[in-house]
Amino acid sequence: MNGNGVPILDRYDPEAPSAIEFRRLYSRLKYKMGEKPVFPLMMTSSKHEEGKTTTAAFLGLTIARSDEGRVLLVDMDLHRPRLHRLYGLPMQGGVSEFLQGAEPLDRLPKSTALPNLDILTSGRMVRSPSALFDPPLLRGFLEELSRRYPIVILDSPPLLPVSDTMVLSTLVASVLLVVMAGKTPREVVARGTEILRDVNAPLAGVVINNSRGVLPYYYNYKYYGYRRKE
Ligand SMILES: Nc1ncnc2c1ncn2[C@@H]1O[C@H](COP(=O)(O)OP(=O)(O)OP(=O)(O)O)[C@@H](O)[C@H]1O
Ligand SMILES: [Mg+2]
Repeated sequence: MNGNGVPILDRYDPEAPSAIEFRRLYSRLKYKMGEKPVFPLMMTSSKHEEGKTTTAAFLGLTIARSDEGRVLLVDMDLHRPRLHRLYGLPMQGGVSEFLQGAEPLDRLPKSTALPNLDILTSGRMVRSPSALFDPPLLRGFLEELSRRYPIVILDSPPLLPVSDTMVLSTLVASVLLVVMAGKTPREVVARGTEILRDVNAPLAGVVINNSRGVLPYYYNYKYYGYRRKE
């Protein structure tokens, strides 16, 4: 799934096992949430490099292809923004410009080759991104995005090192926690879920990222697994 810098829209294969896993993830997410709203959905993890951005990017693409409405992928990781790279887009002109009051929201989403999929990139790097994570400002931002797009998916920083994510988790409709199988220690995952639980965040489930192939074949070797929250 790495693709060596080729934008994901150019290398996406709808018949690939990973694409099937993402469709399954979306179905199970809807099933799990039942009557409750799913979006805005936030993708996070306990620590760095568990596959949050990759998972958010592919989930957004999968839903956009399913023709259920307009999808907006938002890069809320203003510390290590990466979503723009996966879609081959410039980083500037996005979340940070809006949160600083420099640009109105309607001009910022960038279109992609898929008519149903737009991307709101992180915007220019700012010195202290956490200072922009003001709950009333973020609430208004998410409401405005949700009015324009029925499906809003936020990529976010990891929970343990960055406080922005905890703030954001209280303002979304659902949260998916990505865990890199075989890499993230159990206690670190537990601490991440504890942070979410402490603020009553709507944790919808855990995505097991098996990219290192450490789980047995019935976990869909090398692809994604999904486990419902107990
Ligand atoms: N399922 C996967 N298959 C192949 N490569 C993957 C997979 N998941 C993640 N990777 C690779 O692992 C690295 C980290 O992934 P990604 O950037 O999605 O993680 P992240 O949790 O968003 O990291 P960060 O905390 O830095 O934002 C990237 O090089 C990505 O290409
Ligand atoms: Mg990331």
